[in-house]
Amino acid sequence: MRSPILLSWLLTITPILAIPPADFGFPEAPNDTALSVTYHDNGTSFTVSEAELFGDGITANQPTVALETANFQSISSYNGSYVLLMVDPDARYPSDPTYRFYLHWLQTDMTAATMASDGTSQLQNTTSPRVPYTRPAPPTNSSAHRYILYAFFQFDNFTYPASFDGYSSQNRTTFNLTSFLDHSNLGQSPAAAMYFFVSNETQVPQDFTAAAGRTYPGGNGDMITSGPGPMITASASPPSATASATSGSSTRSSTGSSTGSGIGSSSTSATGSAASATTTSGAGSVALGFQAVLGLVVAILCMI
Ligand SMILES: *[C@@H]1O[C@H](CO)[C@@H](O)[C@H](O)[C@H]1NC(C)=O
Ligand SMILES: *[C@@H]1O[C@H](CO)[C@@H](O)[C@H](O)[C@H]1NC(C)=O
Ligand SMILES: *[C@@H]1O[C@H](CO)[C@@H](O)[C@H](O)[C@H]1NC(C)=O
Ligand SMILES: *[C@@H]1O[C@H](CO)[C@@H](O)[C@H](O)[C@H]1NC(C)=O
Ligand SMILES: *[C@@H]1O[C@H](CO)[C@@H](O)[C@H](O)[C@H]1NC(C)=O
Ligand SMILES: *[C@@H]1O[C@H](CO)[C@@H](O)[C@H](O)[C@H]1NC(C)=O
Ligand SMILES: *[C@@H]1O[C@H](CO)[C@@H](O)[C@H](O)[C@H]1NC(C)=O
Ligand SMILES: *[C@@H]1O[C@H](CO)[C@@H](O)[C@H](O)[C@H]1NC(C)=O
Ligand SMILES: *[C@@H]1O[C@H](CO)[C@@H](O)[C@H](O)[C@H]1NC(C)=O
Repeated sequence: MRSPILLSWLLTITPILAIPPADFGFPEAPNDTALSVTYHDNGTSFTVSEAELFGDGITANQPTVALETANFQSISSYNGSYVLLMVDPDARYPSDPTYRFYLHWLQTDMTAATMASDGTSQLQNTTSPRVPYTRPAPPTNSSAHRYILYAFFQFDNFTYPASFDGYSSQNRTTFNLTSFLDHSNLGQSPAAAMYFFVSNETQVPQDFTAAAGRTYPGGNGDMITSGPGPMITASASPPSATASATSGSSTRSSTGSSTGSGIGSSSTSATGSAASATTTSGAGSVALGFQAVLGLVVAILCMI
C-alpha cells in the first residue's frame, strides 16, 4: 500500500524548475522555459545548454537568440514583441559582485520570426540595440562568472524608462535589473531565459566548452553553482580544448530536471539586485546526497 502522506511529501519537495535556478535569487523563467542561444565562432555554432562553461573566445560575438516556440504554449500563444537582456550578476568577482548587474546587452522591440523546422523562432531586432552586445570578459584572476539572457514579453504597457538611457561602457556597471523591470512594466517574470558560465582564467583555452558539471581543472574557481546547475566533479585529466562537448542541437541540459537542490529556497520574490547568491560548489555534493535520499525514498515507496 502506498502512503499518501509520503507521496504528497515527495510532491511538495519536488522543485519547481526554473531558468536560472530559483536559489540564484534572480528573475527566473517559469516552467523551465529555455531561450535558445547560439554563438557562432570561426564557422562553428554552439547552442548553449543550461549551465555550460565556456572559454572566453566562444562568446566573443553577439549570439543569435531564438524562442522554443513548439515546446512552450506560453510562447506560441503570444504575438507581441520581446525585450532581450543579458546580465552578469558576478562582476567583478562572484565573491564580491560590486558591479551586479553588469549589463551586456539590451535590445527592445524584438519580433519572433516564423517558426523553423526545428520548432524555434529566431528573435530579430527591428530597432538598433539600446545597449549593444559586449562580450563576457571576467578578470583572469576571477572564478567563472554566470551570464544570464532573458527574453521578456514586451506588452503594450512597456515604457522605456528615461533614467536608463545612454549606457556607455563606463556605466553598464550600474544597471539595476530589479529597478529596470519595475519602471518599464516588464514585470519580474521573463518569458524565457538561459544561463551559462565563462572563465578567462589564464589556463582555460579560449575555445573550451564543457557541459554542466564539468570544468577545466583549476579553471572554474569558486563559481556559483547553486540550484540545478552544474555539480562540480573534478576532471581526472585536462579535457581536450576542442568544442566537441556542445552539439549543434537546441536540446536542454538534462541536469535541470534531475536534482533536488532547489528545495528550501523560497522563490517567492525575485529581487535580483538585493539577492546575494553565496552558495558555492559545496551545493553540488549536498544535491547529490539529497538525490540519493530521494532515490531511496522512491525505492521504498515502490516496495510498499
Ligand atoms: C510547460 O512545459 C511543458 C513541457 O515543456 C510544455 O509542454 C508546456 O507547453 C509548458 N507550458 C507553457 C504554459 O508554456
Ligand atoms: C496571433 O496571431 C494569429 C494569426 O495572426 C491569430 O490567429 C491569433 O489570434 C493571435 N493571437 C493573439 C493572442 O493575439
Ligand atoms: C539590429 O541590431 C544590429 C546590431 O546588433 C544593428 O546593426 C542593426 O542595424 C539593427 N537593425 C535594425 C533594423 O535596427
Ligand atoms: C582574457 O585574458 C587574456 C590574458 O590572459 C586577455 O588577453 C584577454 O583580453 C582576456 N579576454 C577578455 C575578453 O577580456
Ligand atoms: C585580481 O588582480 C588585480 C590586479 O590585476 C588585483 O587588483 C585584484 O585585487 C585581484 N583580485 C583578486 C580577487 O585576486
Ligand atoms: C551613462 O553615462 C552617460 C555618459 O557617459 C550618460 O549620458 C548617461 O545618462 C548614463 N546613463 C545611465 C543609465 O547612467
Ligand atoms: C535596485 O532597485 C531596487 C528597486 O528599486 C532597490 O530596492 C535596490 O536597493 C536597488 N539596488 C541597488 C544596488 O541600488
Ligand atoms: C502590463 O501589461 C501586462 C499584460 O497586459 C499585465 O499583465 C501587467 O500587469 C501590466 N503591468 C502593469 C504594471 O500594469
Ligand atoms: C577564432 O579565430 C580567431 C583568429 O584565428 C582566434 O583569435 C580565436 O581565438 C578563435 N576563437 C576560438 C574560440 O578559438
